[in-house]
Amino acid sequence: MLPPREEYALLKTDALRLLRAALKNPRNDQIEDLFLALADFPVEEITPEDRKLLLDNISYWLKGYTPPVTALKELGIRNPEKKAAVILRGEDIAVEPDVNYEFARDFVSRVRGGKILDIASGFGWIPPLLSKKARVLALDKAYLNRVVYEEDRIYIEDTTIELFPDSPSARNYLRRERKLRDYRDFALLFWNSRQADIDRITLLQGDASDLRRCRDLTRNQECSIEDASVDGVTCFFSFNHIPEWRAALSEVYRVLKRGGDAWVTLYREYLEKFPVKFAYNWTDQLGVKIVKIKDFREQAEELGFQVSPIKDYRGTTLYFLLRLKK
Ligand SMILES: C[S@@+](CC[C@H](N)C(=O)[O-])C[C@H]1O[C@@H](n2cnc3c(N)ncnc32)[C@H](O)[C@@H]1O
Repeated sequence: MLPPREEYALLKTDALRLLRAALKNPRNDQIEDLFLALADFPVEEITPEDRKLLLDNISYWLKGYTPPVTALKELGIRNPEKKAAVILRGEDIAVEPDVNYEFARDFVSRVRGGKILDIASGFGWIPPLLSKKARVLALDKAYLNRVVYEEDRIYIEDTTIELFPDSPSARNYLRRERKLRDYRDFALLFWNSRQADIDRITLLQGDASDLRRCRDLTRNQECSIEDASVDGVTCFFSFNHIPEWRAALSEVYRVLKRGGDAWVTLYREYLEKFPVKFAYNWTDQLGVKIVKIKDFREQAEELGFQVSPIKDYRGTTLYFLLRLKK
């Protein structure tokens, strides 16, 4: 019911008022017309499930989440383009920005330094891309969490991370082979398939808010990241996944050499109101916390960073890119 070839509009207050008035007591025929207008497939019958899904979406629109522009037009709200603060296309919000290869490449192209710490790496693009130009410390809290094999899904214990949710054949393969024991194994599988220079990546299991206590999984020993010991830090949406982001940011400051940069991306706050991956509750589903840019900047400056927002990056409508100089 949320078509990909659509535009979604974050409404200004007046337009939201119009929308709420139009949907105050929705009639049956109004719901059916809305359904037909939004459907991007031939509709033979509108089932009770279809109605429920649409009513569920409407309940989000009434709370200020972004409706499809087609729905606004169908409800008689003229020129929605002029009444919106921001409009994003469905294809732009079809996936999270952190899995977008072009965004990751653009990000990595800016990073300088011979030894880079990547915070909350997961199995993301940053370590393999960075390994082409630097030595990488890839840190994640969950690297030793088990891979759990279930009938219809494979996931990392105690996380929201699912392996190949859209590919039953890849899941069958993993289930048969059972070679992946933990999250680290999955990250290595992914990075190897992406031609990473694996020898230049050191996997660290540890909490970003206490980098003195990590486990070096490459050498299989305890380790501590010392003060001023890395040339650069990368945080590709990491702070959106770390509830204790303030403590983690202070650790980034501690371990960075003087003159070094931390490169940070943060989801735009308004993205919370868009149906990323076509779900309005995507932040809950993916364990994402929206961090206010103002709070983040204040905290970084308090620690002693010089903060420069970057303007010419890809994906500007979806996230912010900041350079933090120590
Ligand atoms: C979406 S994932 C990967 C984000 C990654 N930077 C990328 O480029 O895709 C977020 C990761 O944050 C990790 N994480 C969450 N809290 C953490 C913490 N306190 N310390 C280290 N890693 C953490 C999770 O285990 C998960 O792998």
